[in-house]
Amino acid sequence: MQNQELLKLDGISKAFGKMEVLSGINFTIMTGEVVALVGDNGAGKSTLIKIITGVHKPTTGEIFFKNQKTKIKSVSHSRSIGIEAVYQERALADQQELYRNIFAGREITHFWGFMNIQKEKEETEKILKNTIGFTSKAITMNSTVENLSGGEKQGIAFGRSLYFDADLIILDEPTMGLSLQETEKVLGFVKGLKNKNKSAIFIDHNIFHVYDVADRFIILDRGKVMGQFKKEEISQKELMDKMISLHHSGNF
Ligand SMILES: Nc1ncnc2c1ncn2[C@@H]1O[C@H](COP(=O)(O)OP(=O)(O)OP(=O)(O)O)[C@@H](O)[C@H]1O
Ligand SMILES: [Mg+2]
Repeated sequence: MQNQELLKLDGISKAFGKMEVLSGINFTIMTGEVVALVGDNGAGKSTLIKIITGVHKPTTGEIFFKNQKTKIKSVSHSRSIGIEAVYQERALADQQELYRNIFAGREITHFWGFMNIQKEKEETEKILKNTIGFTSKAITMNSTVENLSGGEKQGIAFGRSLYFDADLIILDEPTMGLSLQETEKVLGFVKGLKNKNKSAIFIDHNIFHVYDVADRFIILDRGKVMGQFKKEEISQKELMDKMISLHHSGNF
């Protein structure tokens, strides 16, 4: 079902000091839709998703989430309303055990307020087995993140977002530095989101990955939306040609 509006950005601009890096951004993300945000280095992709995840506040413009006008105040606020980000490097704290990572900021507590570590470990075990389907014996709830492979880290971040039932999962270059096999796994996770009726915003410099997983492409250039295309409206080659043309002439 792709008929409900999940996120709407209305006239979002962002300036750092006098430098406007995003101007008048309008777009919507529907339920069950994977949307790729594509654009050159410095186009403003990460800044835009940082606004959606509560890292930055927009200078102007409004965000509607589940049809409610929403001022996203912080990362924990965005998580609490159903938005999760998966980054390769920053999503997880390296030195901590998996169960701590999964429940960071959303600890399970006993009714008198102490952390229920036993319960967190049990739930983590379930997430590893059922939600992510990890089979490696080397990974347990007590593993620390630093020993995991890049793809496994991504898997944990996905597992966390599914466990907490996020509606919108944002992936900023999730395949960076991953092996082919790990990349396949990550792309598989993204494609699987649709069956769960979840939505995703996907950023990746590899146009093959982007074309493979996304239903729609939003092209960003120098802080502006230059075009939006559904997959059936544009071939992979046409998308690539547009990106190259934008890079050289600022137009397509
Ligand atoms: N905190 C900040 N302070 C000042 N300028 C910033 C800040 N964050 C980003 N910028 C600038 O905003 C512009 C957009 O950066 P952004 O990281 O959003 O680009 P991007 O599209 O994600 O690029 P890439 O594909 O290289 O990751 C860049 O010119 C960058 O230098
Ligand atoms: Mg970026």
